[in-house]
Amino acid sequence: MTTTEPRARLVLGNWKMHGTLAENAALLDALRTADAAAHCQFGVCVPFPYLAQTQQLLEGSTVAWGAQDVSKHEKGAYTGEVSAPMLKEFGCRWALVGHSERRTLHGETDQLVADKAAAALASGLTPVVCVGESLDEREGGNTLGVIQRQLAPVLALGADALGRMVLAYEPVWAIGTGRTATPEQAQEVHGAIRVALQGLGVDHVQVLYGGSVKAANAATLFAMPDIDGALVGGASLVAEEFLRIAAA
Ligand code: 13P
Repeated sequence: MTTTEPRARLVLGNWKMHGTLAENAALLDALRTADAAAHCQFGVCVPFPYLAQTQQLLEGSTVAWGAQDVSKHEKGAYTGEVSAPMLKEFGCRWALVGHSERRTLHGETDQLVADKAAAALASGLTPVVCVGESLDEREGGNTLGVIQRQLAPVLALGADALGRMVLAYEPVWAIGTGRTATPEQAQEVHGAIRVALQGLGVDHVQVLYGGSVKAANAATLFAMPDIDGALVGGASLVAEEFLRIAAA
């Protein structure tokens, strides 16, 4: 199970429901001028209303951007939904799908998440498919079973689709809690995801870790063989901290 080429590192920020025009301008300006992409692929996933501002401020820079969700529909009577072709018009490279906050607070099912990933791909966006177990599931010894269940409809999209995605392992108990998975805990799950991908003949997919990633713990996580970068929440709102994660 050897990789022919090393996978590129990717550090992505997920602003969640944070930001104002003024705050964003300062943050994006700091990211744009720091040239974080010298270290790794680098980007931010911003709230929908700020995509135009983000595009305007980052266009021509090495920092890319994306959205935090995408509809499974291309267009139609779906009030409140935002389609992949719309995101594409605003220069998005990525769309997060299946973030645990969408799964738990908005009832997104494993199948819906896979449908959203397929819709993103159909418009030339890279879906960042998030999976992760709750604390109860981990303590019940079900971590890998939950990940397998969440991934099953995504894996069913096939090798070609998988080869154009990014996956993110975000244990729910580590999100916004300050309690990071240890590098070994994360690697165990990343390794299992890698084996599932390799079983389908796909080996170059980036698998990010997310959950209380900070500058102080990023390097030890990134030292693990199957951790290809990070999906960063809170720390991505502070330019200096976020840039230090990219440098790690
Ligand atoms: P925190 O980095 O704030 O724990 O959030 C992680 C996350 O949910 C990123 O998508």
